[in-house]
Amino acid sequence: MKHAIIMSTTLAILLLGAGEVAAAADGKAIYDKSCGACHNTGMAKAPKLGDKAALKGDSSSLTASVIKGKGVMQPRAGTTLKDDEIQAAVDYMLAKAK
Ligand code: HEC
Repeated sequence: MKHAIIMSTTLAILLLGAGEVAAAADGKAIYDKSCGACHNTGMAKAPKLGDKAALKGDSSSLTASVIKGKGVMQPRAGTTLKDDEIQAAVDYMLAKAK
């Protein structure tokens, strides 16, 4: 019984740890998969990756904007990404724009 508790605690810690690593790495992967097609080239007035002046707003307001959709960009950029995944991609764009 005691052994089982230790085992499940260890498992929980491992799962939490893995989640953190994934969250930290996700932004680029999500961006490359779901956002780069438009934002690498800046097509249809999309803020181009690395263009600091084009991104106006902070992480949360820009994330809200993507979730809502803007111009040619559909709500959630036409994806089924969750809020935190979109935020990770936005944060990646913001980091690249520095
Ligand atoms: C179909 C092409 C397309 C895709 C795919 C796309 N975007 Fe966009 N995005 C645009 C365009 C075009 C705009 C500019 C809209 C405007 O200003 O009219 C834009 C604007 C933005 C903005 C600025 C919003 C604002 O309020 O100024 C952010 C941030 C953004 N996109 C992030 C993302 C993220 C993150 C993804 C991937 C999850 C993504 N986009 C996918 C075309 C796209």
